[in-house]
Amino acid sequence: MNQESAFRYREHSLFAEDVALADIAREHGTPAYVYSRSAIETAFASFVQACRGRDALVCFALKANSNLAIIELLARAGAGFDIVSGGELQRVVAAGGDPSKVLFSGVGKSEAEMRCALDAGVRCFNVESESELLRLDRVAASRKLRAPVSLRVNPDVDAGTHPYISTGLRENKFGIAHEDALDVYRRAAALANIEVKGIACHIGSQITSVDPYLAAADKLLELVDALHADGIELHHIDFGGGLGIRYRDEDPPSAQALLEALFRRLDRHPRGSRYGVFFEFGRSIVGNAGVLLTRVEYLKQNGERRFAIVDAAMNDLMRPALYEAYHGVLPVRQRDDVEARRYDVVGPVCESGDWLARDRSLAIEEGDLLAIASAGAYGMAMASNYNTRPRAVELLVDGAQVQVVRERESVASLFALERRLR
Ligand code: LLP
Repeated sequence: MNQESAFRYREHSLFAEDVALADIAREHGTPAYVYSRSAIETAFASFVQACRGRDALVCFALKANSNLAIIELLARAGAGFDIVSGGELQRVVAAGGDPSKVLFSGVGKSEAEMRCALDAGVRCFNVESESELLRLDRVAASRKLRAPVSLRVNPDVDAGTHPYISTGLRENKFGIAHEDALDVYRRAAALANIEVKGIACHIGSQITSVDPYLAAADKLLELVDALHADGIELHHIDFGGGLGIRYRDEDPPSAQALLEALFRRLDRHPRGSRYGVFFEFGRSIVGNAGVLLTRVEYLKQNGERRFAIVDAAMNDLMRPALYEAYHGVLPVRQRDDVEARRYDVVGPVCESGDWLARDRSLAIEEGDLLAIASAGAYGMAMASNYNTRPRAVELLVDGAQVQVVRERESVASLFALERRLR
């Protein structure tokens, strides 16, 4: 079952795999995140398939969705994991993932995080600055270990995506500038407790064309050559993540098309096929495998504008408020007994920025259910408790089975760590 077919109408009722979303709402309440197990597995498998016959490690970028059950099912499918905190490492371990398939990314790794990651035996640290390199060398020395390292190079290419999620331009905080990388590699190679393993980049997220990846690959290969000439041999190239999904009408390349293009570029390079390849995909593995199920509380009209006020809000799905992101809105029951009107779909939070969708034609009444589409990535992972709203329940659908993979939070749990005045 591919991602498009995981959420489909059967006789005007929207299903997740073989379960009616209306039944899920009745049983588990709303708002609820609903994921399709097979959609996740199919998306991951398409990357694995595209890597067949190559020395490749396909990692799931945990930040996109860090639910333990999702980590576990990807771990069972053989995934590695891209992490950006000690907390994410603990999740991988708790879900039965293999630390030797973990890449540790991120611009601000603390000493404590480095220690934990070294002790756990992660595959590679993607180092983003010279200061970080020196710190890692010190921490590794204190553990009597050598830290496996890639430098995350900023290739200065435009991924053509939203400025908040573009990371590979010179002005971003990420990575080591291309022109400084050679010097930092020389420095790294001379450090006793650092083992230079590879080179990494990640140019942004929701990328919908192959070209920026190829431009970045060329920049990395230039450096690989310069390092080779310098006697520094690398073992792997990490192309990062960032492959886009269809939210509306985007037409991103398939996993296969992207990876084939990259492999072709690599194979044209005289020593290209010698290098292992790593990837760090998040959104393209889980994004279209989840919806946010919500109920319409009220319909109202202010002047010319009509609003559908739903029980999910910006605290549940922050992407529209933060990036003006588009998410499809699917009525759970397709009805022809009410007229379609144009609505802004908004939440109960006290902010004008609290909207989930704007100006959508919907045939709905109060009490109806809506599925906010493509919410599997950076949905629950970015959710907050703003307005003391308990975070939604998370459910994993597998055929006709529904499993609660995170219970709905209780209000009491939200202030359990707080203390009354002494
Ligand atoms: N590797 C690194 C180093 C990253 O920073 C990211 C994402 C990924 C991999 C995974 O990228 P993906 O394949 O998921 O595009 N909250 C934003 C997205 C932020 C992405 C941050 N970095 C959103 O909701 O669109």
